[in-house]
Amino acid sequence: MKDQTLLPLYNKDKQSDLPHPPPQGSQDGASSAGTHAHARRVYIETYGCQMNVSDSELMAGILTQSGHQTVSHLDDADVVLVNTCAIRENAETKVINRLKHLNHRKRRHPELIIGVCGCMAQHLRDKLLDTAPYVDLVMGPDAYRNLPVALDSLARGVESHVSLTDRDPFLGLRLDKNEDYADIAPIRKEGIRAWLTIQRGCDKMCTFCIVPFVRGRERSLPLKLLVEDVEKLVDQGFKEVVLLGQTVNSYHDDSADFGDLLYAVGDVNGLERLRFTSPHPADATDSMIDAMASSPSVCKHLHLPLQSGSTEVLDRMRRTYTAEEYRSLVLKLRERIPDIALTTDIIVGFCGETDAEFMETYQMMADIRYDSAFMFKYSEREGTLAHKALPDDVPETVKGERLEQIIKLQESISADINSAAVGGTVPVLVEGESRRDADRYHGKTDGFKTAVFPKSDSGIGAVVNVRIDNTTAHTLIGQVV
Ligand code: SAH
Ligand code: F3S
Repeated sequence: MKDQTLLPLYNKDKQSDLPHPPPQGSQDGASSAGTHAHARRVYIETYGCQMNVSDSELMAGILTQSGHQTVSHLDDADVVLVNTCAIRENAETKVINRLKHLNHRKRRHPELIIGVCGCMAQHLRDKLLDTAPYVDLVMGPDAYRNLPVALDSLARGVESHVSLTDRDPFLGLRLDKNEDYADIAPIRKEGIRAWLTIQRGCDKMCTFCIVPFVRGRERSLPLKLLVEDVEKLVDQGFKEVVLLGQTVNSYHDDSADFGDLLYAVGDVNGLERLRFTSPHPADATDSMIDAMASSPSVCKHLHLPLQSGSTEVLDRMRRTYTAEEYRSLVLKLRERIPDIALTTDIIVGFCGETDAEFMETYQMMADIRYDSAFMFKYSEREGTLAHKALPDDVPETVKGERLEQIIKLQESISADINSAAVGGTVPVLVEGESRRDADRYHGKTDGFKTAVFPKSDSGIGAVVNVRIDNTTAHTLIGQVV
């Protein structure tokens, strides 16, 4: 597994082809609100984590509601919105390069409106306009309601032929702790799995992390509304729902906590599987564990970011748990839910990380034996607490070596765990045709492993029992029995 620029925990596509038409809707998200004086055709390009994919669905909803259209190809667009990620430096570099490319297109089509949305818009603000002065719109995650107003105003500029250099960019960068977009219906791609944002922002302030600065304070959506949302998703044909939040398990609505939400949503008739990402270890309450153990639709898979196996490093990261507390939590989880699949996020080379501290991470990964892991080199982010107070002093080569070591370790653990599954039979939710072989389907196990198997009578959306014949570190290969 490589260092991942993006956080595609459940999203293998580096770049989403969002927005997609609504399940029963017309192609290219044709407007449901009728004609519009300055109706624009908008192409949304998504970088980063699932929260961004979910935000792009929200943006598509907002635009469509106000009479704009979303299109699936850049060639058909007169507006391109790049929904960006700021989590690591290479994520931002990728976007800057993409913007340069879009600027070439704009030179040929001066009427093209280019917008930068999401975390990087919020993070880089003015700097972005210096590096990419051709950008017309810069909008952070809490300002998407202003998209229609922004497009109207920019479209007027285009139509009155104001020269490119004289156009004022539209800025929407206010963070709003009350914005939860509860009334907006996102436009999702038709499919098996739907992502549902249940919480926005983050209050944790890990010292390495830019998220609290670009996404603002934590806020949860009302439980009753989320249950209704899931009912609608099931009606639309989705079999699996993934609840999304930065610290998803710190969810609360009055007296209801995350465990209550899991029970309530898990009970929705017709929902096959319920997942969530990402929980914070410090918020892994008994109520969450009970719901995972008892609610039949809640998958027995937990993505539990460790970050480091050294208590000292965790302390510098302000993760609010010790290595020992994390180990006890894993023990408890495995006691209560013996077949639980565990995955994690690891950062190597954080400020001041010594060889011995790194080895504690290595040892912890060897002991816990995660099913899989996303592993990253520390990337200093301007504006974070670490950037202000802790020197980024682990040499790049050392970061690279450490990353390689844990990747090698994790690959061999993942391969071992998977090969131990050979001969067994696992339920798999069929998601679609295999990309490599039109005679095969692919799907996910309850523990979120990819399984590939020859097509059978049960089609996409069905749960089939697959006998595992063969495995790699990343895939289970078998037959429907
Ligand atoms: N709570 C969020 C975390 C978002 S960031 C969630 O899991 O949804 C995802 C992962 O990126 C983090 O768990 C961390 O491992 C990694 N990460 C965050 N900031 C980073 C940085 N500055 N450098 C390297 N990796 C980072
Ligand atoms: Fe970032 Fe820590 Fe929140 S990793 S998203 S500040 S829990």
